Amino acid sequence: MTEKKPYAKIGTVICEHDSPNVMNFSFVVEGDVEDLVVRRGEFVIVDTKDGTVIARVQNLVRVNRYYQHAEAVREYQSRGEPLRSIFPTDRWQYTVAKVQVLGLWFEDRPLRPYFAVSPGAQVRRVKEDILAAFLKLDREEGLRLGKLAHHELEFSPSIDRLLSKHLAILAMSGAGKSYFVSVLLEEMLKRRKEQGRLAIIVVDVHGEYTYLKNLTPSSLEIQDGLIDVEHIRASHIQIPVKSLEAEALGALVADMSAVQVRDLRRVIAEMRKTKQDGYTLNDIIDYVRNDETISKNTREALVGWLINLEDTGLFGREALPDITSTVKSGKLTLIDLSDFISLKKKQIVVSHLVNELLYLRRRGTIPPFLLVLEEAHQFCPESRHELALPKSRIETIAREGRKFFALLCLISQRPVKLSTTVLSQCSNQAILRATNPYDLEHIGRSSEGIDREALDTITTLEVGEALFVGETVSVPTFVKIRKRHFEPTGTIQDLSQAMKKTDK
Ligand SMILES: Nc1ncnc2c1ncn2[C@@H]1O[C@H](COP(=O)(O)OP(=O)(O)O)[C@@H](O)[C@H]1O
Ligand SMILES: [Mg+2]
Repeated sequence: MTEKKPYAKIGTVICEHDSPNVMNFSFVVEGDVEDLVVRRGEFVIVDTKDGTVIARVQNLVRVNRYYQHAEAVREYQSRGEPLRSIFPTDRWQYTVAKVQVLGLWFEDRPLRPYFAVSPGAQVRRVKEDILAAFLKLDREEGLRLGKLAHHELEFSPSIDRLLSKHLAILAMSGAGKSYFVSVLLEEMLKRRKEQGRLAIIVVDVHGEYTYLKNLTPSSLEIQDGLIDVEHIRASHIQIPVKSLEAEALGALVADMSAVQVRDLRRVIAEMRKTKQDGYTLNDIIDYVRNDETISKNTREALVGWLINLEDTGLFGREALPDITSTVKSGKLTLIDLSDFISLKKKQIVVSHLVNELLYLRRRGTIPPFLLVLEEAHQFCPESRHELALPKSRIETIAREGRKFFALLCLISQRPVKLSTTVLSQCSNQAILRATNPYDLEHIGRSSEGIDREALDTITTLEVGEALFVGETVSVPTFVKIRKRHFEPTGTIQDLSQAMKKTDK
């Protein structure tokens, strides 16, 4: 077997009718064909006096001249004698690797390729330090998320590259999105203060991150430091009524008319004057009921709507929790929505949360943060027909947040249903296995760095494999996400386990 050592020679560049050219070349792979010396997707290099040409294997073609002529093969076949038994066919078999040039590395800098490699040039395995530098990985301070597919090199993008312009994690369900998020969270929580830390807020729709509250420094293999995780159940959240304008209340109700909003605005102005230490929805309801200046119809409609809102149990006099004191650098805040069945209630909570985070961050009251949103298509859908209270606010963060470090990490198993405004603002995408053609098409359209080849590969990815595109790395890169350090205990992984556990 040919050695896997970096810089080992693995082939020789050949002449074909239009290659080697600046962007492509082919090479005959060294050694025994059965050895699978190179694989599709692997990075290779050719050293020249003008720099190191970095390329990636796009395809592998096996050639054997004994099998070139269909008639001859058919003839031997009909005689019942395999060609192998007459001719030394095996010795004539070899592999041609077709590669795409990605860049040129010259004097520790990447350059755009501007020449073709020479036929006869030696193709070698890439040296890890060159590949890491070329991909712009940060081997000291980066987030250790896994390994490059086909290489031993650790995939360690810097926080700046991965998160500073929003990240979208897209894939079909079961592909490993949430698992990847837990690996990302582990890496973020491991960071020391000196390295710079973000405040992290996770909107945990299914309660699948709750186990992280049991994290300890030793479970993350760090000696010093503290791990700060707070778990907040959505049923404990209270939205302060005094912070809601008439328009905001109106938005929570499907079809409040302009006249009704105007009446409500006057009522709220009155409440603010008379009840300076806050008031509840019931206070507003009482006031509206007794206000003769509002027409009877409007009064009844307003009271009905406000009662419905009161019934959600989400509103009160004070804000709970107090976001300003909850959101801190280096801390993970889990907003656990798993108690709620109603999508509307989830949306009201997310809408309030996003609004507060945006407002407080703009004023500099809270530190730079990362908001992780599972099931993002439920909160910022593309379709205008779907109920989507938080949509415009999420779109605002997507558009403007990067300027003041209000960052998003959006996760969705239905990219096609996710707002294109939001998706196109995510400069980074981690794409795991996806097979739905509509989703694939949408992913292809919304990310610039992705070509047909890469898109096809997405359907063949395994669970836990991801394609990173965007600003994280200089070229689209396939990565095997690492195992998490800390596993949830007691969760049921599959159906057979669940059946055994309950069938007593
Ligand atoms: N990187 C990985 N390494 C090992 N197992 C993984 C990895 N990613 C996913 N898995 C397995 O696949 C399962 C489904 O992953 P999950 O993240 O819940 O999928 P999704 O969120 O995309 O629906 C996990 O419970 C885990 O067993
Ligand atoms: Mg998931």
